Amino acid sequence: MILVVVLLTLKLLCCRELPSSFEFVSAVHGVFKYVNKTLEGYNKIAYNTLPNFIAFLIGMNVEQLVKVSHKAWNDEMDDCPFIWKNYSEEKFSTAYLEDSAPIGTFNYAKYGFLNSPTDYYARPIMKAALDFLPTKASV
Ligand SMILES: *[C@@H]1O[C@H](CO)[C@@H](O)[C@H](O)[C@H]1NC(C)=O
Ligand SMILES: *[C@@H]1O[C@H](CO)[C@@H](O)[C@H](O)[C@H]1NC(C)=O
Repeated sequence: MILVVVLLTLKLLCCRELPSSFEFVSAVHGVFKYVNKTLEGYNKIAYNTLPNFIAFLIGMNVEQLVKVSHKAWNDEMDDCPFIWKNYSEEKFSTAYLEDSAPIGTFNYAKYGFLNSPTDYYARPIMKAALDFLPTKASV
């Protein structure tokens, strides 16, 4: 199972803003109808990515999460009950990848994770590539 979370977590906004992407996914993989049905009722619950990710990946809002298992909203998130932990318990391989290491959802102005949250975690290699490989700006 692969979860692709697009910043535009509001289904209606996704359909409106990413019609070509949804058409592509539908044509190539035939999953649009499934995605369209699955996202029924999923709505944005806050302005920023973090609270929406937490709702989607943990099933709580930030206030509930802080109360239940977290020290502060920007503390490390290792102990949080992410849905991928349930998949790990069921012997699935898990991976977490975002398009940006410096402004990752759980790292921008936050501590992120002390340990890899999933079996495969792209942030360390992405961060090392940014820190050590030449970029267009530096060559
Ligand atoms: C997506 O689902 C809605 C019902 O929630 C339906 O009205 C709409 O036609 C569907 N869109 C597509 C492209 O299948
Ligand atoms: C995930 O696992 C936790 C701990 O075992 C459990 O409380 C929770 O209900 C599970 N979540 C789902 C969606 O199955």
